[in-house]
Amino acid sequence: MELGCAKVQAKNAESVRKALFDRGILAKGYRIVRDAGGFIYFPLVNGAKIPPGLKATAAKKDFEPHQTQAKGSVKEALAQKHALLPEEISKVVRSYDCVGDIAIAEIPDGLISKQDAIARAIMDQNGHIKVVARKDSPMLGKFRVRKLTIIAGENRTTTLYRESGCSFEFDIVKVYFSVRLSHERLRIASLVKPKEKILALFAGVGPFAIVIAKRKPRTQIVGIELNPDAVKSFQRNIILNKSSNVKAILGDVKKVVPERYRGWADRIIMPLPHSASDFLDAALIGANPKGCTIHFYGFVETKAKGETEFHKDIYAPLVALVKEKCRKAGMSCRITGKRVVRPFGPYVVQVVIDFKVTKK
Ligand SMILES: C[S@@+](CC[C@H](N)C(=O)[O-])C[C@H]1O[C@@H](n2cnc3c(N)ncnc32)[C@H](O)[C@@H]1O
Repeated sequence: MELGCAKVQAKNAESVRKALFDRGILAKGYRIVRDAGGFIYFPLVNGAKIPPGLKATAAKKDFEPHQTQAKGSVKEALAQKHALLPEEISKVVRSYDCVGDIAIAEIPDGLISKQDAIARAIMDQNGHIKVVARKDSPMLGKFRVRKLTIIAGENRTTTLYRESGCSFEFDIVKVYFSVRLSHERLRIASLVKPKEKILALFAGVGPFAIVIAKRKPRTQIVGIELNPDAVKSFQRNIILNKSSNVKAILGDVKKVVPERYRGWADRIIMPLPHSASDFLDAALIGANPKGCTIHFYGFVETKAKGETEFHKDIYAPLVALVKEKCRKAGMSCRITGKRVVRPFGPYVVQVVIDFKVTKK
């Protein structure tokens, strides 16, 4: 498929790739092209322009979808066994998430009449998949859950998912879960020191808490979560993983932290990117005055709508907010890291700001 792309000399490829990724304009799911002259071509999302200052020039090039064998062969199966037309296949969103033995697929509106064939192809090509569910909405509401419809396989929405040597049981309709944060959970776990006290806010079914607990068993971890169904799964997952250093609490972060965990935590994790800023005050109350590291997640635009220029510093608004909240709470604040966690949509990325606070 021909796409607009960034043409780069090999020696500049990594810095350009990172810059495109950080701005949410590196098109996902295609093989990077190299030519005989030593140039590398990175595909761009539709209509994206190369940010000024990058050592890259605009070009057009044919890109092949880059897929795992199973996912690639779903398209082949759709063509060969289910006779979908090439233009229909190109509309099938390339990625679907496998959560345990459930595949969650995005079916474009124009292909609803072909969803049975798409689901059958996914099941045929992924032997472990027992259920295929169609995404009917984005994550919604305070519990961040999405509407799904089962379109093939067994009539259930519960599954067992494994990640980093841990197991998680949950119902994909009743609770939030993202397989796309597995790398971030490991990153945080690698930063944790052996005897830390950790508040895992917005804990869901416990993936941050349990992945950390498995790697750092001498820590004490408290997860706080508002959704009763998520807390039930969290408690089951604590037992399933023998995570005796983790406690799951049902409640609102804004109440539980000030009432029970004032000044308690050496580390606080805040994975509620669409509204974590509303909870910074409560988090700071939970911070150990002698020092606490906070991981604060947010969504940021890499470019304002209608503008051609990219923001020079995508982290600036969140960093300013963090510093202001700390100042008001009488805490000093040192930013220790900032990074893009994952692309979220065109020109929107999820980021994390890591910072350390101490009472002045
Ligand atoms: C984006 S999910 C993250 C879940 C989990 N940390 C994970 O990575 O799978 C945010 C979670 O925060 C919970 N939540 C929302 N508002 C809350 C609040 N005020 N107090 C505690 N939990 C809350 C939601 O129910 C949801 O499970």
